[in-house]
Amino acid sequence: YSKHLLKGKKIVVSAGGTQEDIDPVRYISNRSSGKMGYSIARAAALEDADVTLVSCTHALPEPVGVHMIYVHDARELEKAVNAQYDDCDALVMAAAVSDYRPAVRAENKIKKEQHDHLNIELTENPDILYGLGQKKTHQFLVGFAAETRDVIEYGKAKLAKKNLNLLVANDVAQQGAGFNVSTNIAALIYKDGHIEQYPKMTKDDLGHIIIEKIVEGIN
Ligand code: C5P
Repeated sequence: YSKHLLKGKKIVVSAGGTQEDIDPVRYISNRSSGKMGYSIARAAALEDADVTLVSCTHALPEPVGVHMIYVHDARELEKAVNAQYDDCDALVMAAAVSDYRPAVRAENKIKKEQHDHLNIELTENPDILYGLGQKKTHQFLVGFAAETRDVIEYGKAKLAKKNLNLLVANDVAQQGAGFNVSTNIAALIYKDGHIEQYPKMTKDDLGHIIIEKIVEGIN
């Protein structure tokens, strides 16, 4: 049920895995489903926030009462979140951004007849969240970290490096956590160093908890 805790607040959420084109029919991506970001956007809308969801996927139903912006690759995602950033109260970067993209996008479909071996050169994508952290003024900035070991240690370092208020860290090696499942096992790491460890729960429930923390952080 809603307590209208985010009435008048603007919340931006990104979700899903970016798709980096190789040619007109192929891309490089990752296993992110977008479920976590969509759950957070729904939880924010239930609290009456003005919610913009920047989505890299078309596979999930659009949350009711949320402004949708669809993007394809990391550079489009970067443009979209930057355009929404200045007047937002909180931004949650739940998207799984490809660290690399093909250095060139072939204009035409690559044909196997033309190549015995095919090397695709990759070039680094911008770290979008790092950029947002650098120009942060009043925004409450939330990042995600998917790790397979030393989750808390890496998480703390990431929070500091990217100038975040809150980092949601999950160990994607555990069953029922991370990419492409409906549950997650998270630790919330805060700027002041305190950590809250949560048991396995649905992404919807975790979405509500993250929104609660944002409410506390921006009010
Ligand atoms: O550094 P790492 O990729 O582990 O950090 C994850 C966090 O940073 C996520 O919140 C993700 O959305 C964000 N990120 C980003 N741009 C990148 C890579 C990650 O905004 N190029």
